[in-house]
Amino acid sequence: VTGTGAPPARTGPRFGRALAAGPRVCFGAGTVLRLPELLASRRARNVLLVCGEAAYEACGIRRLVGERLGGLRVERLGGFSANPKLADVERGVELARRERTDTVLAIGGGTAMDLGKSIAVLADEQGDAASLVERSRPLTGRRRRGLVLVPTTAGTGSEVTRFAVVYVDGMKRSLDHPCLAADDAVVDPELTFSMSPRLTAVTGMDALSQGIESYWCIRSTAESRRRASRAVRLALANLEAACSRPTPRVRREMSLAALLAGQAIDVTRTTAAHAVSYPLTGCYGIPHGHACALTLPRFFVFNAGVSAADVQDPRGAGFVRARMAELASLVGAATPQAACARLEALLGRLGLETRLSELGLNGEDRERVIALGFNPDRVGNNPRRLTPQHLRGILDSVR
Ligand SMILES: [Fe+2]
Repeated sequence: VTGTGAPPARTGPRFGRALAAGPRVCFGAGTVLRLPELLASRRARNVLLVCGEAAYEACGIRRLVGERLGGLRVERLGGFSANPKLADVERGVELARRERTDTVLAIGGGTAMDLGKSIAVLADEQGDAASLVERSRPLTGRRRRGLVLVPTTAGTGSEVTRFAVVYVDGMKRSLDHPCLAADDAVVDPELTFSMSPRLTAVTGMDALSQGIESYWCIRSTAESRRRASRAVRLALANLEAACSRPTPRVRREMSLAALLAGQAIDVTRTTAAHAVSYPLTGCYGIPHGHACALTLPRFFVFNAGVSAADVQDPRGAGFVRARMAELASLVGAATPQAACARLEALLGRLGLETRLSELGLNGEDRERVIALGFNPDRVGNNPRRLTPQHLRGILDSVR
């Protein structure tokens, strides 16, 4: 992570071997102004800009493109709604192929960045995008187009991960391949200044969930946990202030929290709270970070109750319990129950609903979520085996 003014540099060895092939990260206030230089160094001439209307207007991107990317041909893909949809990916792939773009530049939140990643990769694959997203065909993974990601929220960490979500008819699918890792991630906290308190809260809760889930994930390493714990500490210390009285320092800390949590889940992937979130988002439109945060506190208690009979981490139940105790103390709690209460209290203070009924979901909806909440990969990553009965209990506890 480089500061303002330093040249964009590949993140050094202190960021760990697992990340050596990840994007070159340029972090700091004002770094977005170095985009022209960065694109020039990549010999970009023909750019597909994936950027929704709100970010285009609110973050000064329109001016940036108009005044500073003048030498480039820029075609913009906008007009997409929240959460990446297959139809938008297909539209982007067609545009990228037709306009012969050499570089995909995605500026926005998780939706814009995930669309950008999928478009850059799928435009270089043969044939239709749908069969690759549905995994009826494997990716060849030969991306030739450049891929540059610029987050305007502090949440998803998508700028540094090698996977992208695509919703197909409300069902979550994902592409997961090293070719989805961007060439460059430009993380400029100033782009997050225009976020509303509510958007700050839901995206910040995504970063916090990702940090916590990565920490307890069965695939954690000492290095991923180091990043995850920094992310959790930063998010807990700054999220409330980022919503109620944001300062440049607080915004910067949240951008760093999101980046670190993204780097942590790039190694581990996410777990049960994310798995359950996808139907809450895909079927009920609950924003991703909020959807994760609804069950996250309860999974704290559930995972701490792991035993030899239901542990999924090959390092054993004792290992998981020790990590859960570390996590509880990170959250400032002495017990998992206290950690759960603290996280729910935080949601309340952020003005986010903590009950499914407040979001219009009834018992039938909860059953639908159970039926759709079992992404085998994500639940398989959870340290404690989760059954439909367990999940029913957890959803009932937040009904
Ligand atoms: Fe997430």
